[in-house]
Amino acid sequence: MAKLDIKIYPDPVLRKKARQVGRVGDDERRLAYDMIETMRSSNGVGLAAPQVGVSKRIIVAEDVEGDKGATLTLINPKITQKKGKAKFCEGCLSLPGVSNDVMRPEFITVEALNLDGDELKINTDGILARIIQHEIDHLDGIVFIDKIGFLKRKKIIKQLGAKVCMKF
Ligand code: NI
Repeated sequence: MAKLDIKIYPDPVLRKKARQVGRVGDDERRLAYDMIETMRSSNGVGLAAPQVGVSKRIIVAEDVEGDKGATLTLINPKITQKKGKAKFCEGCLSLPGVSNDVMRPEFITVEALNLDGDELKINTDGILARIIQHEIDHLDGIVFIDKIGFLKRKKIIKQLGAKVCMKF
């Protein structure tokens, strides 16, 4: 496994709609393992392939509230049902140093393929539902600051800009 470079906003890859995976093979498995290592070593709980510069519909997520502490890989994930509304503070590995409350559906059903190419269906809520929705947004070129008010977004972008300026 290898740690990959995380693309930082406003890298254009973060705005692209990622393409469906046709067949799950060794390339996808290798990428998923590298994404898991990258997520863990960055202290993240979720990561989408575009964040490491690969425009494919693959996400990884830590089931932080689950009993077994499983790490999920979802390929071509699709939310097929959603219910309720919840507010939760989100951050993003591609927008370092900033966070904000984001409103999203509370319960979701997601259908995807796993690393063996088998279909799976997950009903979930809480933090995992939050992570999965945040990561699927990345596959559609959406970052969490797109989902908050204009003024707050402007403030956050300014904070990001300040950080970028310090990196000579
Ligand atoms: Ni993110």
